[in-house]
Amino acid sequence: MDTQMAMQMDKKYVMQSYSRIPLVIDKGKGVRVWDKEGREYLDFISGIGVNAIGHCHPEILRALTHQAKRLLHCSNLYYIEPQANLARALCEVSFADKVFFSNSGAEANEAAIKLARRWGKGKRYEIITMKESFHGRTLTTLRATAQTKYQKGFGPFPPGFKYSPFNDLERLKERVSEKTCAIMLEPIQGEGGIRMASEDFMEGVWEICRGKRILLILDEIQCGLGRTGKMFAYQHYGIEPDIMTLAKPLAGGLPMGATLAKEEVASLFKPGDHASTFGGNPLVSSAALAFLKVMEEENLVKKAEERGEYFGERLKELKAKYSFIKEIRGKGLMRGIELEFEGKGVVEKCRYQGLLINCTAKKVLRFLPPLTVKEEEIDQAVDILQGAFEELGQGGK
Ligand SMILES: Cc1ncc(COP(=O)(O)O)c(C=O)c1O
Repeated sequence: MDTQMAMQMDKKYVMQSYSRIPLVIDKGKGVRVWDKEGREYLDFISGIGVNAIGHCHPEILRALTHQAKRLLHCSNLYYIEPQANLARALCEVSFADKVFFSNSGAEANEAAIKLARRWGKGKRYEIITMKESFHGRTLTTLRATAQTKYQKGFGPFPPGFKYSPFNDLERLKERVSEKTCAIMLEPIQGEGGIRMASEDFMEGVWEICRGKRILLILDEIQCGLGRTGKMFAYQHYGIEPDIMTLAKPLAGGLPMGATLAKEEVASLFKPGDHASTFGGNPLVSSAALAFLKVMEEENLVKKAEERGEYFGERLKELKAKYSFIKEIRGKGLMRGIELEFEGKGVVEKCRYQGLLINCTAKKVLRFLPPLTVKEEEIDQAVDILQGAFEELGQGGK
């Protein structure tokens, strides 16, 4: 089946909820992918952060093959050894004492929201989230997502959410009330345009939470697990959340979500309170254990920091050259370029030249390469990007 045929089949049989790019990715290895016609691409979006250790990492394949031969699935009615090992590994590298496993980011956030509601004991039920945030597409996480464009036509939503402008501590203080049980935010907003929480804001939020026994929920689904040059983005701030959610890269390309919490909060879930049929099943947990092993053995957090710095410098060179670049944002290997115009055309031109990136918040080019990316590959990507800017004829400085 060629690309055209695959597109036709999709249009006929798949619900058209995605606005897809006319490309079928057929195989991948490391930082590169190939389409159905054999064209090669540098993958600087890596499944929106999923393929953080590159495509088809041999360790993931080894773990999957080994586990698949023993046991693919086993219900959470029983104890699951790889799940318990994974929970321990995640607790050892983070602030957390316990973990709940699910299958996606939205589900990880749902569990976080349920924990927060329990914490509030029915009296405090409000959760404050940030404007331009993104927390998922289930009805509750869509309500937590403070962007009306995603919500239109899907109401009514579960009540109990208030929105506050990102990085504005005074406005946040005004919204906190005796009903607030949690404040939830992304340390770096991904879908919102690669916007980082300022140090003052994060420290201020933390102080409010400590002072009023309000839970701090950090959604690190896009920015966590090494992406920003630290294992978790909260570690840039010297604070600790009460709950943190993870997903995307956690199982090396397989679907997995995780809700991590300190004991005082984690213990609010009693047997029967929350569940997921597939959550933390043997196969996906084995893949996630392999992912964490690769992160450690290949020193990928440090590499994300170093390569991220290099990438940031290269992007700054572009900013010095092109007046239509408004801002370079991000940390580590989570980078964004805000343009003065919509980024769709640049994304397309890059694709024609063999570079996959995407555009978020309309005008922000987003880069989430695998953490295994090399300097030469960054140079190659920057060259293609520069070519696209030149070709668009937007003119240099
Ligand atoms: C910060 C953040 N939270 C939650 C989600 C939702 O994750 P999922 O699509 O796995 O449900 C995403 C997905 O892009 C995300 O970036």
